Amino acid sequence: MTEPLYITTPIYYVNARPHLGHAYTTIVADVISRFADMKKQDCFFLTGTDEHGDKIVRAAKKENMTPREYVEKISSLFKNLWPELSIENSCFIRTTDQSHIKVVEEVLQKIYDSGDIYFAEYEGQYCFGCERFYAERELLNGKCPDHGSEPEIIKESNYFFKMSKYQQWLIDHIKQNPEFIRPERYKNEVLSFLKEPLEDLCISRPKSRLKWGITLPFDEDYVTYVWFDALLNYVSALGYPDGALYKKYWPHAQHIVAKDILKPHGIYWPTILKSAGIPPYKHLNVHGFWNVDHGKMSKSIGNVVEPLQMKNIYGTDAFRFFLIRDMVFGLDSDYSEQAMVQRLNTDLANDLGNLFSRVIAMVHKYFKGIVPRVDLVLEQEMELGLKKDAFNAVSCFESSMENFSFHKAMIALWEFISKMNKYVDVTAPWVLAKQKSTRKQLEAVIYNLLEGLRIVSGLIYPVMPDTSKNMQKHLGLNPETSFFNLDLLRSWDVITPGTQLPKGITLFPRIDFEKIQMERIENSPSVPVQNKKLTEITLEEFFKVDLRAATVMKAEIIPRAKKLLKLEVDMGEIRTIVAGIAKDYTPEELVGKQVVVVANLKPVKIMGILSSGMVLAASENGVYSITTLDKNVTPGTPLR
Ligand code: ME8
Ligand code: MG
Repeated sequence: MTEPLYITTPIYYVNARPHLGHAYTTIVADVISRFADMKKQDCFFLTGTDEHGDKIVRAAKKENMTPREYVEKISSLFKNLWPELSIENSCFIRTTDQSHIKVVEEVLQKIYDSGDIYFAEYEGQYCFGCERFYAERELLNGKCPDHGSEPEIIKESNYFFKMSKYQQWLIDHIKQNPEFIRPERYKNEVLSFLKEPLEDLCISRPKSRLKWGITLPFDEDYVTYVWFDALLNYVSALGYPDGALYKKYWPHAQHIVAKDILKPHGIYWPTILKSAGIPPYKHLNVHGFWNVDHGKMSKSIGNVVEPLQMKNIYGTDAFRFFLIRDMVFGLDSDYSEQAMVQRLNTDLANDLGNLFSRVIAMVHKYFKGIVPRVDLVLEQEMELGLKKDAFNAVSCFESSMENFSFHKAMIALWEFISKMNKYVDVTAPWVLAKQKSTRKQLEAVIYNLLEGLRIVSGLIYPVMPDTSKNMQKHLGLNPETSFFNLDLLRSWDVITPGTQLPKGITLFPRIDFEKIQMERIENSPSVPVQNKKLTEITLEEFFKVDLRAATVMKAEIIPRAKKLLKLEVDMGEIRTIVAGIAKDYTPEELVGKQVVVVANLKPVKIMGILSSGMVLAASENGVYSITTLDKNVTPGTPLR
């Protein structure tokens, strides 16, 4: 029997809606948990939300809600998102759960009683964004490295956890267990931090400053610092200290986090555990950051990727596949929708989707949809190394998954898919089908292909569970049986000859990205002003939009696009702009007109044309009226 596994994600702050980064970590945890299914390994998978602290209070205030109302709302956005992304967590913990609060109180009391918590006056530089004090050496030019703002000097009495006491123990533990923190770069980062003397951790906030937290069991004028509260979720969710789940799973705990919270997980958490007399976790697995279009994803830049939106356009499995295939676990990665579409069209629609449709179509064409009965001698003769390639793919997949090299697991799988595509070309079943004398060879080739696809269907299970089931249904396999089990993927001759297969399907339709973008422009909502909650902006913010007078030099129809015109405008320089006004304007009536253009809009490719800017127009009931200028001005004149 393999040991059980306990896998966790961070519990996410409910100060903002779930985004791509949260989705990534949680999908990775789900992939690991499903990979455990493949090994018949018992896995407990935990995720949840972190609901106390300053950040939450401020976010709630902004929405005119009480903290409690607010955390209810955002926490359920997270909770309800996961099933939409085919994520099957075993438990969803909230730090506002009574059972969690009880554990936090117990552990605090235990550590206090042992003498590892003391009371002291402290004056230091405090960053309100980070909700923590900063040591001088941690600041960048005197400013918070995360927020870029100057910390404020605060003097107050607080409770401190004797973290420094455990510094040497932690260094030794990391050195004796080189895989404690992985990949190695993050272990080194923690070790290099531990070269400096570790300061004690301030673990309280006076209630005069913050009420939204767990009250210290030994002083009711204080609440617990959020990290002390949050980290304990990993044991409270299992029913620490006496729960059966705790006893079974805690010895096999593996955390997954991104590099932003390396320090709390690599330093605070193991020392808290040590002090509380709880054995350390087994592994901390740290991944990098998704950047969007080469920059940080942020609400103020407005480039936050919404997982639900991506799922609705591209499908859950395809979205999961892209994230797993394109990030090297441990390193940063760049997200762009265009790159995603390209990946999906190549790997999913072309390589896998076409292969699958082709093979199933041949079973229908040559065998009326019935899995052929094979001649074993011919099966082996016609196999041309396919079986060996399949088993190689399985073992490479397995070792890559064990090492958290998820992208390599996908590469191994796609190498096999490409071998199968070559196998089709080399054996040319359509030639074998021409003569009665090669009928037996044809049967063998098709059977081998079906077996190869069965193995593919099993290996994609952790990343694309729905497609896995769908493929198996079309291979005549009972979806109730766990055809993703690794031992079945190391065997051949599993599909029963004589089985009637359902009609073929398209697993992944080809995506027309330009069409998606065009629809986005055409359907961009226009809400009536009186119904719209107006967001005030400053003049400075308004001036970020670079509006220019532009003269239309040329206008032409775009074939295939009913609503679009391609314009060439002079605005000091000549620009090409695609505008969705073809139903309301002919090219002729536009030439010579002076219009208003948003000049600093990021260029997008629409119907193969790079459009650099947007022409302003009013739209009423789908009819457009473009803005023109009252008097002609020099092209390129800014509008203020
Ligand atoms: O830190 N790329 O919560 P949080 C990849 N409540 N992953 C990203 C990401 C990005 N750009 N942005 C966020 C907290 N993440 C605490 C945790 S745990 C006891 C308490 C993911 O909402 C990644 O997993 O800020 C990162 O570690 C986590 O979200 C931070 O989530
Ligand atoms: Mg964060």
